[in-house]
Amino acid sequence: MIESPLYLQLQQHRKKDFSPFHTPGHKGAVFFPDDLWRLDLTELPDTDALFEANGILRDCEERLASLFGAGRTLISCGGCTLAIQTMLCLASRKGKKILFARNIHRSAVNTAALIGIEPVWIMPQSEQGCFTGRITPGQVETALSEHPDITACYVTSPDYYGELTDIAGVAEVCHRHDVLLLVDNAHGSHLAFLSQNKHPIALGADMSACSLHKTLPVLTGGAVLNIRSAFHAAGAKETMALFGSTSPSYPIMTSIDWCCSYLRQGGFRDYAALEPVIREIKELAAAQGLVQPQGDCDPLRICLHTACAGLTGDRQITFCHDYGIEPEFCDGENIVCITTPFNTKRDFDRLKTMIRALSGNGTVPHPHPFPLPEQVLSPRAAVFSETEEVPLSKAGGRIAADSACPCPPGIPVVMPGERIHREALSRMLRNGGTGETIRCVKLRTCETKN
Ligand SMILES: Cc1ncc(COP(=O)(O)O)c(C=O)c1O
Repeated sequence: MIESPLYLQLQQHRKKDFSPFHTPGHKGAVFFPDDLWRLDLTELPDTDALFEANGILRDCEERLASLFGAGRTLISCGGCTLAIQTMLCLASRKGKKILFARNIHRSAVNTAALIGIEPVWIMPQSEQGCFTGRITPGQVETALSEHPDITACYVTSPDYYGELTDIAGVAEVCHRHDVLLLVDNAHGSHLAFLSQNKHPIALGADMSACSLHKTLPVLTGGAVLNIRSAFHAAGAKETMALFGSTSPSYPIMTSIDWCCSYLRQGGFRDYAALEPVIREIKELAAAQGLVQPQGDCDPLRICLHTACAGLTGDRQITFCHDYGIEPEFCDGENIVCITTPFNTKRDFDRLKTMIRALSGNGTVPHPHPFPLPEQVLSPRAAVFSETEEVPLSKAGGRIAADSACPCPPGIPVVMPGERIHREALSRMLRNGGTGETIRCVKLRTCETKN
């Protein structure tokens, strides 16, 4: 009898029978055909080849493109990360200077280092110090006027807390300046299937990287790159092949196609039907005095600021487990839940019971403005330098070789190549989550590079 420790551990986890408010979007429901794992085939004459797709996989990509309203859609089995790598690489063909809303995921930071992008940062603005906030079209306008050589603007929307950026407004500014708008829509694939289509491609983004697996019923790793105009898709496959494995997973790709058929055959209605259910839960949380992100938000993302009910730190996850809830994420102040139609009534009943046990005072901390650190080296030079782990107590003034992103608010306090200043250190120490050390450029190397 084979005994696999990982298999046993996952079985143990399932036995706990928590309500899954985390990815993947299928929530372990019986959704896929039973024999999916038997279809773990390879690229054969009749199964097409992902990076030279001209048969059944190309057809699938065309069905996905029509589902998302894109001119061209590319399948990724390497998650949204591979779609982000491709998107940034395509956009940087015209020039390496790219405008980034600072709340970017590590996958984009790493890509910027890998392909030598020169970032220009804009800080999201928030009135609530416990969430990320959003960048505005006005900020983009200012940055593009100051840097006429910027070729693309990169925005993460929705963010982890469910806040949506004004994509239509940002797109208008970008297009007026002849700049591409790229959206990390890792958390928002389902936005195309709500009562109001809030998908970035529908709102004017030129490209969007979408982690299908996070909010749609797709196996983990399944994602797409949506490109609005076929014009910008030239060379996209070859670009994705630079980063992707030559052995794409057929179970993942089949799960994407299965999901596509489900949505086209009416499954999209399940997403719209979930909106009132989640609205009611958000109203309950508000009535309990729990602060939630304000303004335009993902209707299906639940984010509860439990710190205002005295529930903070490690106690958050124990509290969730006591009510049978496994959330996507607890950051010490907020509990974030990903909901999909594959959650059951029992899941939502448990969540409501948990919320009723919390009593908040409705207040949030005020945001503390954070100064942009000095950029000493390019991200690429910093990441590819000789580096060393430095205790946080000794990292002041050093040049980071990695990003550090304390949550909340989910905005990196330092990026590779930036000098670590006192405020960044104190935020890392306060959040504790980034550990006791940070990877820095070795002093000697950095002096040489300067
Ligand atoms: C905002 C954001 N972008 C990109 C990614 C990367 O997505 P994936 O894990 O599908 O590669 C994540 C993953 O959590 C994310 O949160």
